[in-house]
Amino acid sequence: SDESGKGGSTARSFSLNDDSLSIIEHLRSVLAIAITTAFPQLSHTPVLLTPSIKFGDYQCNNAMALAKKLKDIGIGKSPRDVATELINSCPVSPRIGKLEVAGPGFINIFLNKDYGVRAITDLLRNGVKPPKVPKKRVLVDFSSPNIAKQMHVGHLRSTIIGESICRLLEFLQHDVIRINHLGDWGTQFGMLIAHLEDRFPNFLNESPPIGDLQAFYKESKKRFDEDEVFKKRAYNAVVALQGGDPNSIKAWQLICDVSRKEFKTIYDRLEINVKERGESFYQSRMLTVVDFLRKQNMLEVDDGREIMWPDESKTGIPLTIVKSDGGFTYDTSDMAAIRHRIEEELCDWLVYVVDSGQSTHFATIFKAAKRCGIFQPKVHRADHVQFGVVLGEDGKKFKTRSGDTVKLADLLDEGMKRSLEQLRSRGRDQVLTPQELLDAQEAVAYGCIKYTDLCHNRISDYVFSFDKMLDDRGNTAVYLLYTYTRICSIARNSGEDFSNLSKILETIDITLTHDKEWKLVSTLLKLHDVLVKCSRDLFLHFLCEFCYEVCTAFAEFYDSCYCIEKNKAGQIVKVNHSRILLCEATAIVLRQCFYILGLKPITKI
Ligand code: ARG
Repeated sequence: SDESGKGGSTARSFSLNDDSLSIIEHLRSVLAIAITTAFPQLSHTPVLLTPSIKFGDYQCNNAMALAKKLKDIGIGKSPRDVATELINSCPVSPRIGKLEVAGPGFINIFLNKDYGVRAITDLLRNGVKPPKVPKKRVLVDFSSPNIAKQMHVGHLRSTIIGESICRLLEFLQHDVIRINHLGDWGTQFGMLIAHLEDRFPNFLNESPPIGDLQAFYKESKKRFDEDEVFKKRAYNAVVALQGGDPNSIKAWQLICDVSRKEFKTIYDRLEINVKERGESFYQSRMLTVVDFLRKQNMLEVDDGREIMWPDESKTGIPLTIVKSDGGFTYDTSDMAAIRHRIEEELCDWLVYVVDSGQSTHFATIFKAAKRCGIFQPKVHRADHVQFGVVLGEDGKKFKTRSGDTVKLADLLDEGMKRSLEQLRSRGRDQVLTPQELLDAQEAVAYGCIKYTDLCHNRISDYVFSFDKMLDDRGNTAVYLLYTYTRICSIARNSGEDFSNLSKILETIDITLTHDKEWKLVSTLLKLHDVLVKCSRDLFLHFLCEFCYEVCTAFAEFYDSCYCIEKNKAGQIVKVNHSRILLCEATAIVLRQCFYILGLKPITKI
């Protein structure tokens, strides 16, 4: 696969010694210079680079297409000759060890091991530094459940993916605004408020003990559907609420608080950090955006409603901006929100983490915002970060045995139970202190739920299965967590103090002699490439794949390279400091990735 991607650095802005560029970007710049130097006529050719597993560390695949283009302009050269000329035109790079023509004209790129040593030493001294990318002000709209309704697995996916995207973008030094676009406004509040007035007449003085808001919702819905008088009252309550009547606002707040508390327990357990800014926030802005759209002649009356077509050609599905009863819709609030985000928050990148079922909605909102001039494609970027549905083990939509939607709290409880069972079956409860056991239990339970969600391409559906998640083989959270603790135990078991890495580096040099040492190092060096790749289209499964690759490279290294040698009596006879430093470097890289993926690194399990 080609990883050259969009928006790479160009030869102009390139410094050979800029360590903050990812390796792929560095190589892309080197090869861009080579192409321009060797074939000035074709200087705008995008560089094609992929990491390679077998021959060298990376591969450049430009020569074949360049030879064809040269032939078109009357210059006959074989792809191998083109590749050789490219190699001869590469500027000397501190990161490249060797360049080689292979096969029909590939260029195999071998990294310079001295560079590897320098980069790993720097990592040990200073931790992972973020790769350089153009800074953006980005708003991530995620989680966004609805008040009084169940927060379901779709919201769980949005919560997990959204949190990780925020962490990734923050690490890349973007200015990130985390927004929970709660469904806290709309006509359902009329019936909820009317029902609250009946059930808890004293609600203004005493907080109503609504235990089960879903049941409360169902009751009021039933009355709404069956009782005309109640329906009327519900309708009036919405009008009062939207008009700012203080008692209605109070009732609405009380209802929201019940849901808010439930959501908070989930967020606390999963360590989610998101700022609440629900649909209600946009009430006044809905009025102004409707005005704005009317003035621009964007609205058209259709069967009593006011609609807006996403483009002049009037194709696709129009947005309903004002209902025939004068009320606003989900479309109205998203038009008000996109305007607020661009014009008031001054964001240049908008990210909506919402299930694929809403892709038409967002495509339409983005087009409509462009049509009326709010969204300028040259300046702004908007992504609907969509994801598939969660399936049960029967391959159907994830439900409980009785066919109800699965409560998230129950799901997390089940995860905790299953992870404790697993730890006990391995006898870990005998070895760990109660606190360590609890930490391990939580790390495994929440880690495996998050990781399963993140490690698949988010667009596809996935099957929710604790058995699969808790497998300790393959690309799972359990495998990664165990590998991480194993790595941490190596320095601990050396009998020496590895806590101050800078100090150790004063006397110990890293040496890379064994193949597997180099393989581990060259894998670690790809971290920047991977982070940049993940951020490009907001796919986190690349980072999960990378973690797995690091762990398997580590396993191979550890199998063939002694870090600590013991004699028959089990006494330590030799400590290989350089190798233990490689273990520590691996732990540093994994820790950074775990943080982004929401996994808790535990040193004992
Ligand atoms: N509350 C909505 C739902 O549950 C999701 C909101 C997503 N964000 C947005 N700006 N529309 O479907």
